[in-house]
Amino acid sequence: MIANSFVENAWYVAGMSGEIKVNELQGQIICKKPVVLWRTQEGKVVAFDDRCVHKRMPLSCGKILANGTLECAYHGFAYDGNGKCVNIPSQTDLPIPSRAKLKPYPVVEQDGVVWIWPGNPDQMGKARAPRTPELVSDGWESYTCPPMKIPANYRLLIENLLDITHFYPLHDGNIGDLTNSKIPIEFIEQEVEGNPSVKTVREIHGYRHPPFLVDWFGYETVDRIHTHQLSSPGLTRVQLRCAPPGKLGSDAERGYILHHSHTPTDERSHVWRWTVTVKKGQPSLQAGVPSIERIKEMFPAVVDQDRWALERQQHMFDLPEDDYQEVHLRSDKSILIVRKILDALERGIAKEPGKSWLAA
Ligand code: FES
Ligand SMILES: [Fe+2]
Repeated sequence: MIANSFVENAWYVAGMSGEIKVNELQGQIICKKPVVLWRTQEGKVVAFDDRCVHKRMPLSCGKILANGTLECAYHGFAYDGNGKCVNIPSQTDLPIPSRAKLKPYPVVEQDGVVWIWPGNPDQMGKARAPRTPELVSDGWESYTCPPMKIPANYRLLIENLLDITHFYPLHDGNIGDLTNSKIPIEFIEQEVEGNPSVKTVREIHGYRHPPFLVDWFGYETVDRIHTHQLSSPGLTRVQLRCAPPGKLGSDAERGYILHHSHTPTDERSHVWRWTVTVKKGQPSLQAGVPSIERIKEMFPAVVDQDRWALERQQHMFDLPEDDYQEVHLRSDKSILIVRKILDALERGIAKEPGKSWLAA
């Protein structure tokens, strides 16, 4: 496993639409690239190299002037919404050098999410930012946690999300138990918006829900379909559908969609955001309290357990390998596929059509 690298040529979440405000500069490090981004007065999100072309001052430390240009805080170079330097206050008698331009980054804003491509735009191929229509659909309601800086390689989070056999013991007694960890898994390889992807499906009937899930959805014993999908290197989508036995697909069905975004900062850290989306007005066990409120309140305790594990795993990657070797279980198949996909994307290698990633 390579846990000290990341895919540079991919779409990553730079923020939820609401996090990027008009004329408010944001400095981020994405895949080791310093990026300044803001929403222009016209409402468009733009992103550029955060280093001023003069003396590398972070432009995110500057400000947007009344005319909409970005002024560097050091000597006042001003840049327009195309990244072109349009004013050098101390040298107005000479033409502005033509090289005084910021490197732009491709940005897409869709479905309430701002995506950035930190890599080489020529390598984009058919990869598009995954869609998240439920986030902006009238029939659904969502909550997004504030972005979390996790001191661990983003692959450790991706592997955590795809392997829920860790629900026992890590989440035992809140969202997990031993029965959950033993549910048979179906693995599906499929593309999502031009991104190689793998999905796991876990189906169980007559399952006694762990306490948090009883609270969130109001049912003690359920039939349940639980899917986890790495949609792209930047996004994992989880869907849980549950209902009293025999009622899946009926009006009694409840559940959630979780979007987990994992944006590498560097080899040893990433930014994790989770968004939970439920059908509008979905009830919880507590009379009069909507499901979304209970999840918003209780899910962070579960996330803290995962963070605890990820940070400790990362520390082990910082030590010499010696003759260490992992032992893989049947349930690790999706993780082995993910490793093949991410390794191939890092190296710019394509898979032979029709073959499994495992054979690549
Ligand atoms: S470093 Fe930005 S203007 Fe000098
Ligand atoms: Fe977990």
